Amino acid sequence: MSIVSVITGAAGGIGAATARRLANRGPLLLADRFEEPLALLADQLRRDGARVATQFCDVADPASVRNLVARASSTGPIGGFAHLAGISSHSGDWESVVRVDLLGTAYVAREVLAAAGSETALVCAASMAGHRPVPDALLAILEEPLAANFMDRIRPFVDDPEPRSAYAAAKRGVLMLCRRQARAFGQKGARIVSISPGFIDTLMTRRATELRPVIAEQIKGSTLHRIGRPEEVAAAVDFLSGPDASFITGCDLLVDGGVTGGGEVNGDLRWSGHLTAP
Ligand SMILES: NC(=O)c1ccc[n+]([C@@H]2O[C@H](COP(=O)([O-])OP(=O)(O)OC[C@H]3O[C@@H](n4cnc5c(N)ncnc54)[C@H](O)[C@@H]3O)[C@@H](O)[C@H]2O)c1
Repeated sequence: MSIVSVITGAAGGIGAATARRLANRGPLLLADRFEEPLALLADQLRRDGARVATQFCDVADPASVRNLVARASSTGPIGGFAHLAGISSHSGDWESVVRVDLLGTAYVAREVLAAAGSETALVCAASMAGHRPVPDALLAILEEPLAANFMDRIRPFVDDPEPRSAYAAAKRGVLMLCRRQARAFGQKGARIVSISPGFIDTLMTRRATELRPVIAEQIKGSTLHRIGRPEEVAAAVDFLSGPDASFITGCDLLVDGGVTGGGEVNGDLRWSGHLTAP
């Protein structure tokens, strides 16, 4: 059986760019909770000769994630698994942001680990927002996203009317999870890494910029003075999920045009700080 690649959030900006990039690698299983754009993308890719299947998946629903991974495994051994589904603080309350972005990633990692073989590489979308300073007490809570009382424990830190701290906390949790899970994946010869995009030109950033025009200024003042393209993130996902990255696991790759390293917009970072990034 051929090795199958899987993409969640495949109807989104970065997900669709990744699907186009991976289309010639072998069979591709595209998942999203929005099925119509997914079907359109799959038709396009098939016309170009790709072997593509689609599946509805709500990553915040453990059963839905289990079904997706079972479908992938029935197609063949899982190779690259790009988990790119996510919502920003501009498209949900704090609970939805934490449930989709962090708990969704925990469900995906759990199911992919159970199905993993030596060819498996899970790449999870974190964010440069996850690199912001976080209170130590919150870090301790983020260690156990699947604990029964997790939502009650995290609430005091993230229960904002505009849940930017929920997004940053969820994405920090993704960074931590990918480090923590590396040993378990390694037992199977499999890998797990995260990527941290900066400002990337997708619907998510466009919506955020409409609501917070300061983002446009932050992009202009950033290290490379421009927004990133979804294809630039897809290239990183392609590398990390493929055989060229065979000795890379348990770490994060910032794909943010130097915003975090360059420090320009980090000047007054604080927990509920002004870095409004998706
Ligand atoms: N665009 C950016 O600037 C940026 C920056 C940092 C991190 N990210 C992260 O990169 C990933 C992709 O972002 P994007 O810019 O392509 O966003 P996008 O909004 O264009 O796409 C996200 C996709 O995820 C899907 N999705 C949302 N909730 C889901 C759920 N519960 N189950 C299944 N699918 C779901 C959406 O339907 C959409 O197709 C996200 O995790 C995002 O947080 C993006």
